[in-house]
Amino acid sequence: MTTTISVRQLATTAMMTALLVVLGLFPGIPLGLIPVPIVLQNLDIMLVGALLRARFGTISVGLLLLMAFIGLPVLSGGRGGAAVFFGPTGGYLIGWLLAPALISGLSTLWHARETHGWWRELVIILLIGVGLVDLIGSLWLAGQSHMALSTALLSNAAFLPGDILKAIIAVLLARRLRPVLKLA
Ligand code: BTN
Repeated sequence: MTTTISVRQLATTAMMTALLVVLGLFPGIPLGLIPVPIVLQNLDIMLVGALLRARFGTISVGLLLLMAFIGLPVLSGGRGGAAVFFGPTGGYLIGWLLAPALISGLSTLWHARETHGWWRELVIILLIGVGLVDLIGSLWLAGQSHMALSTALLSNAAFLPGDILKAIIAVLLARRLRPVLKLA
């Protein structure tokens, strides 16, 4: 039983990493205000957190980041290489690595994956997948680009409409996919 669950989690881990790579094929949309684009990959980061257990979610995103780090063009618009991690978007990438385990852990604690827990699931994804990622991203951006933290935080508000929509899509998709993929 445990083996079956782990095999399903592993297969979903691989699928989610593949989806991250596919979403990376789409070029980011430049915002203008800050050197951070609007991307699609963070939708999958939220979905990873909603579908997978903590360690599998971390592995799934970790694999993407490892591929990017060694230079494979897996980040939006075909970017990759260690330099990206020290550039303006480095903080978001740290947030991406942390988010799945936190979303998964809080969802278990708060019984958010239950049938009627959709709003709890949405709140967790908004807090972690949007709020925490944007906060770490802004802190990093402010330090890296010598920008006032308030400017970095305010500029991040431009991501909110799109990111809230992505969070809603992630919850809807997760609730459709969990029974199909037979994930707890
Ligand atoms: C990268 O490709 O180097 C990371 C891009 C990070 C983009 C962040 S994720 C949160 C926020 N929402 C977006 O659509 N873009 C930013």
